[in-house]
Amino acid sequence: MAEMKQAFVTGFPIKHSRSPLIHNYWLQRYGLTGSYKAIENSPENFPHFAKTLAEQGLSGGNVTIPHKEAAFALCEKRDAAAEAIGAVNTLWIDAKNKLNGGNTDAYGFAANLDAQLPDWDKGGKTALVLGAGGASRAVLYALLNRGFEKIIVVNRTVERAQALADHFGSKILAAGWDQAQGFVRSADVIVNTTSLGMSGHGEVEAFPLDFSEAKTGAVATDIVYIPLETPFLAQARQAGLRCVDGLGMLLHQAVPGFEHWFGVRPEVTDELRQMILNDVQKS
Ligand code: ATR
Repeated sequence: MAEMKQAFVTGFPIKHSRSPLIHNYWLQRYGLTGSYKAIENSPENFPHFAKTLAEQGLSGGNVTIPHKEAAFALCEKRDAAAEAIGAVNTLWIDAKNKLNGGNTDAYGFAANLDAQLPDWDKGGKTALVLGAGGASRAVLYALLNRGFEKIIVVNRTVERAQALADHFGSKILAAGWDQAQGFVRSADVIVNTTSLGMSGHGEVEAFPLDFSEAKTGAVATDIVYIPLETPFLAQARQAGLRCVDGLGMLLHQAVPGFEHWFGVRPEVTDELRQMILNDVQKS
């Protein structure tokens, strides 16, 4: 009988994670014997948990807030994205029994745009990225990989944006919100990575930028997917920008992990998207 592969998502708390829904959908779709479940670990427990995956019968799993940096430090090997981003969201044990860590957020960000707007990176190569947290690092890595030449990072705390510019190099320019409006005109792609407009976190009446002067054909995308149409996207859409919501990033970032643990590269289908959307709308 085939070995039963078991994978997980761990965080603190973890009960709101949609990853079990995504991976169990794929397990069923591909007729695989395996399991994927949410396992809560406190920051104190996480190192022991991560170092004893094999003993627990686990092939690997996803790591979310607040363990992504701890996971990075614990891994014996890391992929290039994890090294550049400084955080690990996917763990697997390799053939030599070593704990490997990857970061699939940058992949998920670009793959979602590739799927929704295949020419998103084929025009000009200037981007405006709003926010300088962990998600912003993944977005910057993805944009640099796709050949973006100039990326303005706007953040309330300018020092955090400057730290990203220092880390990723001279193509990144740090700025404060007082300068943000001036950069809208030159951007080919505008990305919101802030929690402004996210349900339960940063409800805002209006997003603090006017997109009416944006370039024709400019792309706007949010990494937040609750609500699906954030105030940022609603305003960008109103101004005629080509908009991509953040739900696809969640779905696409799950693909490489599933392939590591279960040996099949899964497809992000409309049916999967609809299923997660239904669950999001229930909450
Ligand atoms: P993540 O890992 O999802 O990126 P994070 O590290 O907490 O989360 O980052 C949240 C981002 O939203 C930051 O860029 C934050 O700005 P600061 O670095 O100045 O805190 C931004 N953000 C959150 N609330 C905001 C607000 N009310 N106005 C402007 N920016 C805000």
